[in-house]
Amino acid sequence: EAGFFTYDPGFMSTASCNSRITYIDGEQGILLYRGYPIEQLATKASFLEVAYLLLYGELPAKKELVSFERLIMRHTMLNENLKNFLNGFHYDAHPMAMLMGVVGSLSAFYHDSLSVNDPRHREIAAHRLIAKIPTIAAAAYKHSIGEPIIYPRNDLRYCANFLRMMFATPCEDYKPTLIAEKAMNLLFILHADHEQNASTSTVRLAGSSGANPFACIAAGIASLWGPAHGGANEAVLDMLLEIGDVSNVPKYIEKAKDKDDPFRLMGFGHRVYKNYDPRAKIIREVCHQVLDELADINNPLFELAMKLEEIALNDEYFVERKLYPNVDFYSGIIYQALGIPRNMFTVMFAVARTVGWVSHWLEMMDDPNNRIGRPRQIYRGPGQRDYLPLSKR
Ligand code: SDX
Repeated sequence: EAGFFTYDPGFMSTASCNSRITYIDGEQGILLYRGYPIEQLATKASFLEVAYLLLYGELPAKKELVSFERLIMRHTMLNENLKNFLNGFHYDAHPMAMLMGVVGSLSAFYHDSLSVNDPRHREIAAHRLIAKIPTIAAAAYKHSIGEPIIYPRNDLRYCANFLRMMFATPCEDYKPTLIAEKAMNLLFILHADHEQNASTSTVRLAGSSGANPFACIAAGIASLWGPAHGGANEAVLDMLLEIGDVSNVPKYIEKAKDKDDPFRLMGFGHRVYKNYDPRAKIIREVCHQVLDELADINNPLFELAMKLEEIALNDEYFVERKLYPNVDFYSGIIYQALGIPRNMFTVMFAVARTVGWVSHWLEMMDDPNNRIGRPRQIYRGPGQRDYLPLSKR
């Protein structure tokens, strides 16, 4: 109960806020972006096509998509001074700490020139964030491995450009395979938005005070980093590596059930889904394809994850509580197969979710009835009492 609060009606019209962007049916395991099923978008659309849909509410016609892609790809470069900022981080800083810091610092580069009260400026800020977040993410990775930053290229597609910035070096260029680009595109689409999750609510609450969008997105990154939220994908890999072998699965299932043990089955359970997370289903399928293409089909971690899922879903503790794999359960296995290290998994999530965060921020800021968020509480402290002098305490 401690810390329980209900939203102040002024901020959220009822106990939840209104939005036209994403619909989730937790019981049925349904996820729609602007009415389109995630299963269709994930396999048929490009990530920037979905970004346009989340931002503007409709799928773009060909001309609209081409000009949107050009607009985004033209703004992927960072101000050179940001390199100095990034170089100030300790070499082993977590990439999420660097992402949060550098995104927040964009306020210093755009704050004076952009007004949150001007709809055109708000749209520009949203586009800049979508354009630059992959460059910052890749730069954080390069810093963490002591390699020079690779500059973006405007002639590449969004996901290919990101993978090249991650894996090219000044000595050797990098052209992602089609399967790698396709897997990245699909994972970005699946992670793009998810209604009022903790990090999106953080962005909305920060934005409701009129704070600049770069600071709001930095707040969203901070919230996403938690292991109960976006940090779970990294925690799943740590968990699978700790379990090590299928023979250890029963022991860890018991640990997860033990109330006195803080261990939870990472990648399992969800605040809203009381059915299989539709995104997890799609990712598990893609796992097969990616591992097959990368000739890694007997990936021991994937085998272990599938065995863990099978045992858990036959255990009454999980069945009774409707605990199913969520979006984080299999995603890390694909990231790892693409050569992305564990400490970058949540960064991947943040790159994709930036589209959802800015879409919700724009929706809120465009609402003439938008007011500052002010969650209320149920007071549980002592009643009024008088000050006691030190001698009497
Ligand atoms: C994301 O909100 C979103 O939309 C988030 C997200 C998005 O796209 O933005 O979908 C992304 O954050 C996915 C979730 C990633 N986190 C994890 O995988 C971490 C592991 N999961 C748990 O920490 C937990 O399931 C949460 C945090 C996800 C949900 O927590 P809740 O709401 O407290 O879970 P619940 O109310 O459904 O729990 C019911 C019972 C409880 O036990 P009892 O008190 O009834 O005895 O199930 C237990 C919980 O203790 N439980 C688990 C468990 N998750 C819940 N027990 C063991 N392992 C788990 N993973």
